[in-house]
Amino acid sequence: MSEYPEDLRELVDRYLESLRFSPSRPTAGLEEAMRYSLLAGGKRIRPVLALATARSIGMEPESVLPAAAAIELIHTYSLIHDDLPAMDDDDLRRGMQTSHVKFGENVAILAGDGLFAEAMRLFCERQQGTATCVVAALGELVAATGVDGMVGGQYVDVTQIDVKGGARVAADAEALREMHALKTGRLIAASVGAVLLLGETPETARIPYRTFADELGVLFQIVDDILDVTGSDEELGKPSGSDERHGKLTYVSAFGLDRARELASESHQKACEALAEADTRTDDLARITDFIHTRDV
Ligand code: IPE
Ligand code: IPE
Ligand code: MG
Ligand code: MG
Ligand code: MG
Repeated sequence: MSEYPEDLRELVDRYLESLRFSPSRPTAGLEEAMRYSLLAGGKRIRPVLALATARSIGMEPESVLPAAAAIELIHTYSLIHDDLPAMDDDDLRRGMQTSHVKFGENVAILAGDGLFAEAMRLFCERQQGTATCVVAALGELVAATGVDGMVGGQYVDVTQIDVKGGARVAADAEALREMHALKTGRLIAASVGAVLLLGETPETARIPYRTFADELGVLFQIVDDILDVTGSDEELGKPSGSDERHGKLTYVSAFGLDRARELASESHQKACEALAEADTRTDDLARITDFIHTRDV
């Protein structure tokens, strides 16, 4: 934990704290719900990755703060919706009551919708760079969020259970990796990829970063699956054992804890190898990779 780039995390937290969405009274409660989840804490891995990528390619981390914050807004929206009764039905998130428990399901759904739209607005209105770069980076982020990304992965996640009785669709390694790559991996990968586009990094130089970021995203979710079994509510700030309660297909349910840990180590190794191919400064990115592998929160 000590090696995590805390300076970048502080930049992110300060910027997120400064965001306001609703100066008018009728929607003040919606803003309250949006900010409640956004500012509840959280590791800020995606925006910190974005800032570390900027630093790695010689840009000022501050210059990509609007893009980085937009990614965290989208991530927070995905958490609010993931916790809803119709999804994972969880009541604890980031150490606090989930949005629907605190504000009701109707407001929680709208808070998620609002965060997504405000993320687009933030990116369009505040991210500096040429119009071509900003549109390309935004396109990368939106694609990673959509059907061929987070939302599609969540669809696979929630429909993997047989509607009649919870029978599980066959757990094959490739399908599991694909689900994780979609629901979690692509947004994490976009945290790197969008910044490379903002920095006008040439295509060939982007290749090792992309391999790195894709692997990092899958590593992240393998570790999330492991922590769901080994962590406590207090450490995680969310209910442990949620996956088992809902009969979810995870790396642990499919392979067992020991094999899941081995697969996490293999994934960590692959991510590090890909990062070593990049010919820029990658020390912060390497620290984030180690943190994602060894974290217990
Ligand atoms: C949790 O993400 C949801 C997944 C994609 C597994 P994080 O573990 O990054 O959650 P926060 O942002 O720190 O709360
Ligand atoms: C959720 O995966 C991934 C998202 C897109 C939010 P999980 O359902 O495993 O995330 P947690 O464990 O509730 O944070
Ligand atoms: Mg889920
Ligand atoms: Mg969940
Ligand atoms: Mg989980």
